[in-house]
Amino acid sequence: MKITWLGHSAFMIEGTKKVLVDPFITGNDKAPVKPDDLDCDIIAVTHGHGDHLGDAIFISKRKDVPILAIYEIAEYINSKGAKAVGMNFSGTYDYEGAKITMVPALHSSGITEAGFSHSGGLPAGFIIEMDGKVVYHAGDTGLFGDMKIIGEIYKPDVALLPIGGLFTMDTRLAAIAAKWIKPKAVIPMHYNTWPPITANPELMRGELEKENIKLVVLDPGESYEF
Ligand code: NI
Ligand code: MN
Repeated sequence: MKITWLGHSAFMIEGTKKVLVDPFITGNDKAPVKPDDLDCDIIAVTHGHGDHLGDAIFISKRKDVPILAIYEIAEYINSKGAKAVGMNFSGTYDYEGAKITMVPALHSSGITEAGFSHSGGLPAGFIIEMDGKVVYHAGDTGLFGDMKIIGEIYKPDVALLPIGGLFTMDTRLAAIAAKWIKPKAVIPMHYNTWPPITANPELMRGELEKENIKLVVLDPGESYEF
């Protein structure tokens, strides 16, 4: 499996299928690609905030691929003329060998349009299983105890964890999350996009190494293969 960071919380996860998560490209100066260049089989959106829904609707229409999201966001996406698959927590969407399960996140999920925020249901994370490998994309989240259960049940090989603070966990809390989830590797996300979420991922390395968890720090555009 190959995981490519596209900046912020956007990742291309490639195995049997190409799964694009939270494609916030337009407006992200750190993004190494253009929305026109992205190729994928399915898009997964963790929550309604603009830095996650991002270019999902545009890419979905351009590539004629479905967007997986919680039911309320799926309704919004359908109203914009793209095709969405609505789901909810503990539900799994099996897309020809790519199994994508929705898990909770501790955050909010408004969709802002014309200066007004309307309900995007609840925020989520995703467990993505392909080719016998498991990736956990935690979405935007604070630390919550059920991360232990997510780790126990799905046994992710790699966890993608937000570390920027202010809107999510910071490095200290993300290191605790990693100990609870017990993946083989952690890839930090949702940091250094803008000054309020500046973070140094190296601050986690010592804590993770004590638990035999590898810290994989990517630059936007770089990939981790395992
Ligand atoms: Ni958010
Ligand atoms: Mn965010």
